[in-house]
Amino acid sequence: MSPGCPATSPAGPLPATRWTSCRRTLPSVVAALREELGRVNRYPDPTSGALVTELSGDLAVPREHLVAGTGSLGVTRDLLRAAAGEGDEVVFAWRSFEAYPPLVWGTGATAVRVPLRDERHDLEAMADAVTDRTRLILVCNPNNPTGTAVHRAELGRFLDRVPDQVLVVLDEAYREFVDDTDVPDGIALYRDRPNVAVLRTFSKAYGLARLRVGYAVAHPPVAAALRACAVPFGVSGLAQAAALASLNAKPELLARVATLVAERARVTHALRAAGWSVPDSQANFVWLPLGSGTRAFADACETAGVMVRPFGDEGVRITIGTPEQMDRLLKIAGDLR
Ligand SMILES: Cc1ncc(COP(=O)(O)O)c(C=O)c1O
Repeated sequence: MSPGCPATSPAGPLPATRWTSCRRTLPSVVAALREELGRVNRYPDPTSGALVTELSGDLAVPREHLVAGTGSLGVTRDLLRAAAGEGDEVVFAWRSFEAYPPLVWGTGATAVRVPLRDERHDLEAMADAVTDRTRLILVCNPNNPTGTAVHRAELGRFLDRVPDQVLVVLDEAYREFVDDTDVPDGIALYRDRPNVAVLRTFSKAYGLARLRVGYAVAHPPVAAALRACAVPFGVSGLAQAAALASLNAKPELLARVATLVAERARVTHALRAAGWSVPDSQANFVWLPLGSGTRAFADACETAGVMVRPFGDEGVRITIGTPEQMDRLLKIAGDLR
């Protein structure tokens, strides 16, 4: 799903489309990977035991509630396979993460897409969309590609309406970029709600997208079903070692995240000052709902050697890069106004 990190375009250097992945990997993580390279002849720990132990301490959740997988995408796929099949329904907001429709399709279940309202999840409409066939609901918080996040009170009301037998999956791939204190931490929510599971990843804030490692936090029946659906030895030794080293370097990585969040605020402010409508973002990107103007904006960016991600005639997602890269983007946006 990620376009990766091309260093240059025909028109010159590109801004990072995935800022966190384009930042240099921390030396301590590189060292852990080097050490692990000498062991690639051996199968990895199928339980990701050391990583699970570390996460268990870090998040204060029991080890048996944690399941590591091949990115949070791999865990999402396994969760869907565990929960849904032909004749079932899976509800999610739309537009949201573009991997959801094909992953649901792969289970044979029907995808029920509930339109965003003002670029945000419409949780009331999502609860209304639940039928006796609904098996799972995906809530992408913050949402990709709009960056918008649902708040504690509305999510609480929503969870109260969802029947106990329906699994609610909070996809928190961008959790580390959240600075709005009204946005709930899914780990706090799942604790006394057995039908809530949380997905996190090392791909974004931790910059390990290419290694494919993420995890679910879920109550034992869900976690056990997930383990049963997972491909054995799916999480490589390299991925486990790098994830562990990244957790050990958490303060350093979170300092990078704080820099990005500050840049997000600057870019949002500048775009709004130039007259663009920009919903509040809690992720590592901002969203411009441009409607029919989407293509023209993306073309102007491409001509200037700046890559943004257009979505049909809905809008563009602009990943936050370095200040220099964002200045180039702001110049283009200003000229287009
Ligand atoms: C909302 C969301 N969830 C999950 C993922 C996938 O993350 P991972 O690399 O851990 O599979 C992405 C990637 O872009 C995403 O935007």
